[in-house]
Amino acid sequence: MVLRKILTDAKIVEQKSLAKDIFLMRLHAPDIAKAAKPGNFLQVKAQRGTTLLRRPLGIAEARGDDVSLIYRKIGKGTAELAAMQEGEIVSVMGTIGNTFNLNLKKPLLVGGGMGLSPLLFYAEYMKNASVLMGARTSAELFWEELFSPFVKEIFVATEDGSKGEKGFNVAFLPKILQQGKYDGIIACGPDPMMKKAVEIAKEANIPVEVSLERRMGCGLGACLSCAIDTKSGRKKVCKDGPVFDGEEVFF
Ligand code: FES
Repeated sequence: MVLRKILTDAKIVEQKSLAKDIFLMRLHAPDIAKAAKPGNFLQVKAQRGTTLLRRPLGIAEARGDDVSLIYRKIGKGTAELAAMQEGEIVSVMGTIGNTFNLNLKKPLLVGGGMGLSPLLFYAEYMKNASVLMGARTSAELFWEELFSPFVKEIFVATEDGSKGEKGFNVAFLPKILQQGKYDGIIACGPDPMMKKAVEIAKEANIPVEVSLERRMGCGLGACLSCAIDTKSGRKKVCKDGPVFDGEEVFF
């Protein structure tokens, strides 16, 4: 298990809306910012919140003494986070989890929706990646601006066709792979998207990693709430992941 168990109270230094119900929260957390590597996640909750369970959120940026999280308001825990103001305190556990492959020479990132968040950290850290991003609509493509300083190429697909190609991003993956000589794919997003990305990568004979998102209780490998079946047996997303060899996972 790769867990640097830092339980800390972190001050919100920036909280802004990026799109409807999507927020960026920047936290002052020097120890976590120093330890963070792309792929790691944090377990967070509002310090004065009413929810007991922490919410697992992939790290989107780690710069200087700060780490940023990008999240969608979808349940009670994230609604409590979204209601918080700059200056308030969040309880954070982390960093947790393993990392993406940091040795790729020409990675292609495949991200859908909030799955783009941990890929953003990877893009900034590596500075050699290209990204195929998928969103429901152009209103959720603030990601382009966030990724553009760090990536070689950006390919865009929206489900409603309001920007880029019309359809799911993975529909365009085979064509992109034909045009560029990528040495690895890193996918994060909805399970059907990752499943398709793994199939296509296998066909193209390119290694693929996936970052899984599962409901989590303890975040410490103790409660089994995040257990998944893989080709090498039962694994815990918090303890053995969240990054897995795509071909190992049963979607
Ligand atoms: Fe408890 Fe993973 S969250 S074992």
